[in-house]
Order: sequence, then structure tokens, then C-alpha cells
Amino acid sequence: MNAKNTDFGTFAQDVMLGLNSNPKTLPSKYFYDAKGDKLFQQIMALPEYYLTRKEYEILEGQHRQILAEIVSLQKPFNLVELGAGDGMKTKILLRYLTDRKIEFTYYPVDFSGSVLVELEESLAEEFPTLEVHPIQDTYRDSLKKQVWEDGKPNLILFMGANLGNFGVEEAKNIIDHLRVGTKKGDLVLIGFDLKKDPQTILNAYHDEQGVTREFNLNLLDRINRELDADFDRDSFVHWPIYNPVSGECRSYLVSQKAQTVTIGALNQTFYFEAFESIFTEISKKYSLSEISHLAALGGFEVMGNFVDSEGYFADVLWVKK
Ligand code: AVI
Repeated sequence: MNAKNTDFGTFAQDVMLGLNSNPKTLPSKYFYDAKGDKLFQQIMALPEYYLTRKEYEILEGQHRQILAEIVSLQKPFNLVELGAGDGMKTKILLRYLTDRKIEFTYYPVDFSGSVLVELEESLAEEFPTLEVHPIQDTYRDSLKKQVWEDGKPNLILFMGANLGNFGVEEAKNIIDHLRVGTKKGDLVLIGFDLKKDPQTILNAYHDEQGVTREFNLNLLDRINRELDADFDRDSFVHWPIYNPVSGECRSYLVSQKAQTVTIGALNQTFYFEAFESIFTEISKKYSLSEISHLAALGGFEVMGNFVDSEGYFADVLWVKK
């Protein structure tokens, strides 16, 4: 590696590090460019992808119980959402609270500025009286800065199984940031996809229409587009595997032949042996006991596990001790 080549954007640097690793890897956070965002919207509507529908069912059916604790305080509070996205599911909670004229301020946190602008616009239309303070930041940095902290109780939402996209150690690190970023009595609501029939999980990441395949391959398209590379996307196969012991569903792109890929922006070529893979994503599934263990690590007490009718997904409510 040329020592002068240190002045790359983060994307280029992460690609360089990942493809120089053995085994090769690429970070899943780069799935989400404009095309990836659209593909993810399509994934959420797939028959095999149960996660979004199940969490929606939980919020639709149990929002009153989920919000009972914070509402019972009868004090103004802050509703902070890590990874707010389009706010689809959150609007169920916002509707319930605003209809009852409960006083709170909404702090949606997202890394994408365009996502936040769209969210703010749609909230202004649907909830004109709602006080919204968008924060463009990462989960961890926002928890370090806590710009919302004003002494009022906080309810921090971290929904959508987003924690599952981090490996075990990183997930613990995020829980640790939640520990540091909350005060006694603050509440946290986290979405977890639960361990279940391995085939059901595998199907969710290997849909018949091939949308998840496109989502995974978009990573190579993006490198081609943004970093002047020549990946032959058709020579890579989307390959998810699920390990029922660890609960990890891992997605790979497997090279179907020996080949060399050049990345112009890195001024580097990468050799792939036949059937060599790139690890692109982890989607961890949890058991309720693992979740309780995480709660304890963060100094939280479990207040409730809100689960859908089939026991596929859980939104868990924790309180800081
Ligand atoms: C965003 N995240 C929770 C999704 C998941 O299920 O891990 C991303 C995804 N990857 C493939 N399909 C959906």
C-alpha cells in the first residue's frame, strides 16, 4: 500500500481495508445509497421479509402498553430516535401521543441528511404542532453528545432490528454508549429479531424475487460508480447463511471464478480466487435471554418484552437503574 494514499474519503478507505483483509469484507453501512435505500424499501414489502411487518404489528397492537410508563410520569419528556429513517413505525407512537396532547419533543437521529429533511417535511404535514429537532449524527456520537439532555425524562427508540447489523462486540459497545448516554429512570425501546425456524430466517435474506441479491450486489455497483472500479457483478453470487447457534445470518458475495478487479480511485487491483467470498452483512437474531443479558450489561432493567403473535420479533423496553 502506498503510504501517500491516505487522503481518501472514508468509503474508499473502508473498501481498501475490507478488500485487503483476509477473508475479504465490505461494511454493510454502504448498502444505503439512493439505489440501496429504494431496494431496502422493496425488501421491507417482500413476503419473506417478516421483520418490518412484525414490528409494525407490535407497535399497532401494543403502543399503549409500550408508552404507559413514560406517559404515567405526567411530565414533558424527550422522544429520541436512533436511526429514524422514514419514521413509518414511529408515527404510530407520535399519533397516540399527539392525539392525547401529551407534551414531548421529538429528536430523530439519522446519519443521512436527506432522510432527515424528508422526515421533517412529512412530520410538519402530519403533525403540525409537534416540536421536532433533527440530529444528523451516528448512533454512538449522538449518545456521547446527548444534545437532547435537559433534565427531562428520555425515551430512546432504537427500533427496526438495526442493532442486529452489528457484531456481538460492537452491539455490546452500543449498549455501553446507551448506558453512558442515559440517566437513572430513562427508558430505552430496542427492536430485536428473534431466533426462530432457521428456514424462515434464511428465506428473509434469500427472497424469490432476488431483491436482497440486488441489494447485496449494489455494493459492488456502488464501488464501480463511485470509486471507478470494474467489478463484474454477474460473476458474484449472493449467499446468505444462518447459524442457529450464534443467531448470525451472514451475507456473502461469492466470486464464481478467479478474477482480478481494479479500483481506479485506490490505484489498486484485487485478486479473487475462484469461489473466494466477500463478507458483506451480519443480521443477528437474539433469544430473549441474550437480550436480558444485554440489558444487565448496560445497567438497565427489563420493563417489558413486547412480542408479535408468532414470537418472531420483540420490541423490548428497558429502564435505567
Ligand atoms: C436494516 N437491517 C435491520 C436489515 C436486516 O434485516 O438486517 C437490512 C437487510 N439486509 C438484507 N435484508 C435486509
